[in-house]
Amino acid sequence: SKGNHAHFMRKEIFEQPIVVAQTMQSYVRAFEGEVAIPSFEFDLSAVERVTVVACGTSFYAGMVGKYWIERFARVPVDIDVASEFRYRDPVLEPGGLALFISQSGETADTLAALRHAREKEQRIAVVVNVPTSSMAREADLLLPTRAGPEIGVASTKAFTCQLAVLAALATNLARAKGRLTGEEEREIVAHLQEAPEAMSHALNHDADIAAIAPLIAPARDVLYLGRGPDYPMALEGALKLKEISYIHAEGYAAGEMKHGPIALIDDQVPVIVLAPSGPLFEKTVSNMAEVRARGGRIVLISDAAGIAAAGEGCMATIEMPEVHPLIAPLVYAVPVQLLAYHVAVLKGTDVDQPRNLAKSVTVE
Ligand code: M6R
Repeated sequence: SKGNHAHFMRKEIFEQPIVVAQTMQSYVRAFEGEVAIPSFEFDLSAVERVTVVACGTSFYAGMVGKYWIERFARVPVDIDVASEFRYRDPVLEPGGLALFISQSGETADTLAALRHAREKEQRIAVVVNVPTSSMAREADLLLPTRAGPEIGVASTKAFTCQLAVLAALATNLARAKGRLTGEEEREIVAHLQEAPEAMSHALNHDADIAAIAPLIAPARDVLYLGRGPDYPMALEGALKLKEISYIHAEGYAAGEMKHGPIALIDDQVPVIVLAPSGPLFEKTVSNMAEVRARGGRIVLISDAAGIAAAGEGCMATIEMPEVHPLIAPLVYAVPVQLLAYHVAVLKGTDVDQPRNLAKSVTVE
């Protein structure tokens, strides 16, 4: 049931602190300050390359995962959308690790890609929310998300739980590769454990975000910009908005904007900027200046320090708690989900069951 929420999507957005904590509990030994993925008969220290395959929102979780795995474990990651993977005949060395990410565990393209990887003698790891699904059954290493059933067609809580699992996997791989000291691992674990509370703080801004929705709802096009792990979050924000509000939206790496999309910018195009303060912040601020110089109307999602530094001249700001960059994607997922939700409600669309979409895409 939807409880006291108007839609399943809203309920699922608000469940995130609990289900992310629940998911993390399976992968984090809080007392020891260690992550622990289920054991499997394969030496993680032997992994030289990871191939990630998924669709839609799960693909964007994979993009964030690539960033973490490369950063912490220094293992190169290839990532493909499942519908492209098989047909480009990817180079897969026998014994490699292939990672499939799926809420349903039934997405036809992802499942076909998994079977293709199996034929190519890959070890199959699966991050999946439905434990009885086809992908779960065919995995060598099953990494369940504990989001509970997700009813809304737009994926929300499954996504942030995927991020939690991927952060734990990246950390585990980093340890196996000898890239982390015990102290560094303890720090990562401490940051991961801060995520659910930070997500609750983000949820407290629901009313502010609802107040911004009328500024976005009349737009024909919306751009989302981010850098580093917030680039896939920009893609995810744009996907959420287009799925449920039917407004055309694109996510871009902030630095890529001047290579084309800047031509679109005028005072009719809202630009949503995801920019937690941190090492990439200043770069994104200079991209914001380029938008502003062309009359673009910016919604800045950042923390207090970021808003103090760059909020002036924005059409609106959404304040997130100050968090470690590692967990920023989990926290910044919340405002982009809520923004899409409130815009869709204003437009009167069928939020939980948007036109032309199915919860699980079981045809190729
Ligand atoms: O069940 P899966 O995670 O494999 O589904 C993949 C995509 O179909 C899914 O994420 C889709 O993009 C969602 N509607 C996004 O909100």
